[in-house]
Formats: sequence, C-alpha cells, structure tokens
Amino acid sequence: MRLRKGVILAGGMGARLAPLTQVTNKHLLPVYDRPMVTYPIEKMVQAGIEEILLVTGGEFAGDFLRLLGNGKSLGIKRLHYTYQEGHGGIAAALSLAEDFADSEPILVILGDNIFNASILPFVKKYNSQGTGAMILLKEVADAHRFGAATVEGDRIVKITEKPAKPESNLAVTGIYFYDSRVFEIIKGLSPSARNELEITDVNNIYISCDQMRWEKLTGWWSDAGTFESLYRATELVRKSRLSAKGEKGRRTEGEREEGA
Ligand code: G1P
Repeated sequence: MRLRKGVILAGGMGARLAPLTQVTNKHLLPVYDRPMVTYPIEKMVQAGIEEILLVTGGEFAGDFLRLLGNGKSLGIKRLHYTYQEGHGGIAAALSLAEDFADSEPILVILGDNIFNASILPFVKKYNSQGTGAMILLKEVADAHRFGAATVEGDRIVKITEKPAKPESNLAVTGIYFYDSRVFEIIKGLSPSARNELEITDVNNIYISCDQMRWEKLTGWWSDAGTFESLYRATELVRKSRLSAKGEKGRRTEGEREEGA
C-alpha cells in the first residue's frame, strides 16, 4: 500500500527547554523565522503526504489550532488533531494514531526534528520495501544524546537509547516509517525505567523480527529539544535561508539593518 499518511508527534513536557516551555509548547517555539512544528510538516507536504495527524498534549494544545488551522496555508490536504493525556512517551503518543492509520503504513516525524533534505526519495524506498519499518540514521558527534544504532553493512543490529558509550556515531533521527503492525507492537510494550513507552523498544522489536531497514539521511539534521540543539537548528535554518536568497539578498538585508 502506497504511503500517504503522516503523523507528527508534538507532545511532551519540553522539560529540557524550561522556562521557555512554561508558557508554550516546545514545538511552537521559533526556529529562526518559523514555529518549530512547521518544519517537519513542510517536509511531509513536499514528499506528497496527503493526510497528517498532529498528536499533542498539555495546556497549550489549542495554540496548534490557532497556528495551523485546517492546514491549508501549509499545503496540507487533510489535517487532523488528537490529544495525548499525560506524558507516556513517544510510543504512547504514536498509539493514538491507530484509527487514523486505519491499517495503512505511516510516516512518523518527531516535531522537533529539523533537517534540509527532501524525504521523497525515502518515501519511494519505503514504498518499494512494502512492509516492515524503515528508519533514517545520521552521523553525529554526540550519539549518547540519541538512540544510537549498531549496523553491519545493510543490516541494523540494534538500537541503544542514550548509551553512555555509543557503539557508533549513527544517531536514530526522529523520522520513522512503519507498517500497521506498529500498533500491535506498542500494545505489547512495558514502560522503561523513565516510565515511558520508548520508540526505541518498538524499533528493536522490528529489528529482532528482521523487519527493519535503515537509510542514511542526507544533508544536515538537528533535533531542537535542548538549548544547544535549538540554537544549532536555528543557525542551520538561517544559513540555508540566506544562501537560498543569495549574496544580493544578504547585502540588502544588512543595509536595511544598518539604516534601521
Ligand atoms: C527521541 C528518541 C531517540 C531519537 C531522538 C531523535 O529522543 O527517544 O531515540 O534519537 O528522539 O530526535 P528524545 O528527543 O525524546 O530524547
């Protein structure tokens, strides 16, 4: 079945960004010139995803509706919302997408993942794969902050969530492709030490059934859930916006700023 549905996970407490997140949801914070959540949405729209479910929670959930409305301004054909009670982790948030998925495959992106490459080539690869799951990995200098993947050539062997001593420099990005089995897998999970249902546990189950493929994400990638990574994501977006505008635009902007 062709992939045409996407899920954006934009809940959580954003604890690492307090006190900013005392007054708004993390995914509504600015990354350069736009609210964070609009970046992964834009990537889905560009890759031809027709229907998107936004999962959020907490006391600022209504602000997503204010920002995104029916999604048309961002080019979304059909936008749906759902609300996560409490903070049960990424896999618990994803479980709320079961009715939306309705047995179709889904693309899941964590709402704080900012990257520049198109995901269309990966959507095509996943479509030709047909079943199972696929994750995108990225080389990073600080794999201990992420799920770190151990791979042997084409094969992914395991993922270790936030390892003290990562076996590789390959971080699991928050870009996941799943078939409809994902919801049965989530139902069988037990909470981790931090009392959450971990997406890494879901991925490791796919790996143990030999149903997980991986690809390397091209271009740059950053999460934006800590002050350092939010700053980095902002810088990366700024740089690519400026280089898209070209030197001429940069000069005009500089002149305007000096004259202001
Ligand atoms: C989550 C996942 C982790 C993944 C990361 C990507 O971590 O648990 O495996 O590498 O997203 O952004 P979190 O940002 O919730 O700490």
